[in-house]
Amino acid sequence: MQKFVIHGGRRLEGEVTVQGAKNSALPILAAALLCEEPCELQNCPRLSDVYAACRILSSLGCRCSVSGHTVRTQPGPVEETWIPEHLMQEMRSSIIFLGAMLGRTGACTLGYPGGCELGPRPIDLHLSALRRMGVRIREEGGVLRCIAPGGLHGAKIHLQFPSVGATENILLAAVLAQGETLLTNAAREPEITDLAGFLRAAGARIEGDGSSTVYVEGVKSLHGCTYRIMPDRIAAATWMAAAAACGGELVLRGAAPSGMESLLDVFEQMHCRVRTEQDILRFHAVQPLHAVRFVRTMPYPGFPTDAQAIVMAVLCTARGTSLMEETIFENRFRHVDALTRMGADIRVAGRVASVHGVPALHGAQVAATDLRGGAAMLTAALGAQGETVLSEISHIDRGYDAPEEVLRSLGADIERV
Ligand code: EPZ
Repeated sequence: MQKFVIHGGRRLEGEVTVQGAKNSALPILAAALLCEEPCELQNCPRLSDVYAACRILSSLGCRCSVSGHTVRTQPGPVEETWIPEHLMQEMRSSIIFLGAMLGRTGACTLGYPGGCELGPRPIDLHLSALRRMGVRIREEGGVLRCIAPGGLHGAKIHLQFPSVGATENILLAAVLAQGETLLTNAAREPEITDLAGFLRAAGARIEGDGSSTVYVEGVKSLHGCTYRIMPDRIAAATWMAAAAACGGELVLRGAAPSGMESLLDVFEQMHCRVRTEQDILRFHAVQPLHAVRFVRTMPYPGFPTDAQAIVMAVLCTARGTSLMEETIFENRFRHVDALTRMGADIRVAGRVASVHGVPALHGAQVAATDLRGGAAMLTAALGAQGETVLSEISHIDRGYDAPEEVLRSLGADIERV
């Protein structure tokens, strides 16, 4: 198994080009299944989750070719309408193919997506919405058999919770459905807008994406298109967290500051300096940072749950006490044990963690627990004194494109062994 060996305490400086957004690339790859002609996706990050999505597409008859940061899809006759179990397990978010499969063929059989490291990952909101669009769903021994005998039809759908994945699945099922779909309490994340942008480029009729009310008018078919995937706001936050943990000065190119307000606000509360111009973000952090009284993760435009772990890693050595409340996932404090082993002073009570700043962390042997928890350990190790050996880094490779190369270019002492 590969590991990162990090010698911390070095100031970070330099320029980074922000990778394409994982959480936009995955639903857009699923959407390519709906297109009757080839698509070209640019600025696609080189991630194991992206390669897993390409394998699922290929198993469904849509050939994918990856060269660098460009993925080309070539839809063929859809031979299969089921997603192989081993591919379902490989990528947690493969549920996103359900809506696209139903939109394309009116049928889909897939294994119940297993829970993941963040706790159970229910899909009740996805299924109840699809049922309203004419899908019959039977669960037999861990397998979901979904068919829309009369084809999908538009519906009026209200989400009890603005679920990102459910919003994406509904869009993917609605664009080729008969009639109109009105979705209320939709997720407003920038990645939803990016997915809608791709679908519109392919001929879909969607309005209101990015707001809580989205309107889709079903069309007969979608053509091919070329589309550039938006920057990954969580990867950008990760590089800022690394500079904040070590002290440093970054220029992030190809960023999208317009969707990062709540993130930038928290870094500014720590007394980091942030300046933005179009797609450039200038970031400056001077040690010691200030604690942040209270951070609560919320659906967009609130503070993103995906940045909770990496910001916690920075707050471990901020001056004062910070409170962090995780309201989105049940079990998203799994990185606390590793940070504590590195000398952090963190107390968890239910969904709230209180982080008491300590002068410095020290290196340790730690293992990544999940994607963003692993990124938090990496962040802490960069600012810690001494050597950290971080194992189970396949979690990190799911969401970060060559992280050690990015960090080494900024002056970090990190090796993948
Ligand atoms: C997406 O997951 C992202 N993944 C997650 O990023 C991100 O943390 C999350 O949105 C929130 O922003 C991708 O885009 C691939 P949700 P998703 O449906 O769609 C509950 C990362 O690190 N829920 O908004 O699964 C669910 O259990 C990953 O890049 C239901 O109860 O998120 C969770 O508690 C991690 N029933 C909450 O809603 C449902 O039917 C948010 O889930 C669906 C969700």
